[in-house]
Amino acid sequence: MTNKANASTMNWAVQVDDVAVSYRDVLALEHASLHVAAGQVCGLVGMNGSGKSTLLRVIAGVVTPNSGDVRLFDSPVSEALRAARVAYMPQTEDVDWNFPLLVKDVVATGSYRRSRWGRLSRCTDQDVMAALERVNLADVASRQVGALSGGQRKRVFIARALIQGADLLLLDEPFAGVDQETQHELMDVLRGIRDVGATMLVATHASSDIAELCDEVAVISGTVVIHDRPDVVMRPEVLVNAMHGMTVAGKEHAP
Ligand SMILES: Nc1ncnc2c1ncn2[C@@H]1O[C@H](COP(=O)(O)OP(=O)(O)OP(=O)(O)O)[C@@H](O)[C@H]1O
Ligand SMILES: [Mg+2]
Repeated sequence: MTNKANASTMNWAVQVDDVAVSYRDVLALEHASLHVAAGQVCGLVGMNGSGKSTLLRVIAGVVTPNSGDVRLFDSPVSEALRAARVAYMPQTEDVDWNFPLLVKDVVATGSYRRSRWGRLSRCTDQDVMAALERVNLADVASRQVGALSGGQRKRVFIARALIQGADLLLLDEPFAGVDQETQHELMDVLRGIRDVGATMLVATHASSDIAELCDEVAVISGTVVIHDRPDVVMRPEVLVNAMHGMTVAGKEHAP
């Protein structure tokens, strides 16, 4: 995505270099590299099992790679997490929704930050309600989070990220399993977050929708096969080859 001449001066939000991840005997990612500049929105597309969620888990610090290097805002992942700079929305099926918390409490946990003295600070109830209003969930603030629909749960995560004021949002399938209306609402909220300068990585199957949200798209197939502007990547001949792990002759794929 960026030519080599100015790569060293870029303000990178995400730097993944030559990462490999395996789950026991399943090699999910190998030689995966992805650099995303601060303020960019990068879509991750690929077939089922191609490694999109694994890449997000590595960036979110949930999974430790077998090899390779991951840096966020030019710091180790642990440091970015400690500074609450990263908000991660896992794929719905990765989350246990049976914990007995109210919607407003889940959102409020986004504001917990460790101060220099190790104490936690909290946002006000008004802050929580304002975030819930932005994602159109104010009316269910006092409901158990486990009693929400799939689309509402996704919006809870986004409200939590808003409260957190995260610089980097990692969203795994934010549009999966939600109706058209919710999808439009979510897209509006994400555009709002993009417009205030946050960096976003969005893994999705709904590839038709991401072109309008994303500045760049990476195709994942056990590695990062191609990473470029949406108009370069989102062409049938490029996508079909890339999703099968094949590079396209004559193109530069590395960012
Ligand atoms: N917890 C796990 N334990 C074992 N294998 C896993 C685990 N999570 C993922 N895998 C395997 O790693 C590979 C990549 O999976 P991953 O979930 O990253 O793909 P994905 O692109 O997100 O797929 P989907 O589109 O279905 O969400 C697959 O072969 C998958 O079966
Ligand atoms: Mg996935």
